[in-house]
Parts: sequence; C-alpha cells; structure tokens
Amino acid sequence: MVKLRINGVNRQFDGDPDMPLLWYVRDNLEMTGTKYGCGMGLCGACTVLVDGKATRSCVTPMKAAAGKKITTIEGLHPKGEHPVQTAWRECAVAQCGYCQSGQIMQAASLLSEKPKPTDKDIDDAMQGNICRCGTYQRIRKAIHVAAGQVKA
Ligand code: FES
Ligand code: FES
Repeated sequence: MVKLRINGVNRQFDGDPDMPLLWYVRDNLEMTGTKYGCGMGLCGACTVLVDGKATRSCVTPMKAAAGKKITTIEGLHPKGEHPVQTAWRECAVAQCGYCQSGQIMQAASLLSEKPKPTDKDIDDAMQGNICRCGTYQRIRKAIHVAAGQVKA
C-alpha cells in the first residue's frame, strides 16, 4: 500500500506501485488539471510538486510518491490566487492552455527556490516545459511579475 498526501488530503493506494502518479491523479482522483503530453518526461505537461519540487508525474511511479506531499494545480491555491496564477492572468500567458498547468507548477517551484530569478534562472528552470503555442516570452514576463520584479 502506498500512502501519500495530495493537496492536503491523506490518500491510500492499493494498486500497482509502478503505476505513474499522473494516472492516479487524473484517473483515480479525477484531478484533470495535470495534463498528459509525452508520457516520457520530455514535455513538462504533467508537472506537479512533490515535497515542493517540480516533478514529472508521468515518470514518477506511485511507489516513489509514498510518504510525499503532492501538490497539483488544483491544490496550488484554494482560489487560484497563487502569485504565479495571478501573474499568469495579468500577462494573459495562456494560448491553447494545454501546457499551462505544468508551466505554472514549474514556475511556482522555481520561485520557492529563487524568489527573484534572473532571465537565465527562468530559462534554466523552464527549458524542459514545452509550449507548442510559443508562449515563452509571456511566461518569462509573468514569472518576473509574480516575483514582483516588473509590472504586468
Ligand atoms: S507528459 Fe510528463 S513530461 Fe510529458
Ligand atoms: S499554451 Fe498551447 S501548448 Fe502552451
């Protein structure tokens, strides 16, 4: 049995311990804000926080999540008002939206480690999160806005 805590709620999982965390979040818990993109750890669409760090849930087996605190986009802020989320809205970052929950979780993880990131910090942290709509410039600006470094 795998015990873990997701968005502040304790959970127990009795299934295959090798099943990806992404499947559990989306299919078992019906938290569909976290997206399936490549399934190979290459695009970032499935990013969640594991003990506060951005993690690709598609390549994280349930057994690796045992005893961890998981945060999905649904749990980032109760009203969707985490500084990254408000900055995202102010900068109108999203286009089709598919990659965006992963981008936001990656950005939240970055800001928890580096509250005032440089452009290079942002590029380094965000390079594994692919956006097929090319919203990268707005993502970078929104991270600076969330960090209080520039106005929207
Ligand atoms: S779906 Fe997990 S990295 Fe692409
Ligand atoms: S907003 Fe469309 S993939 Fe990023």
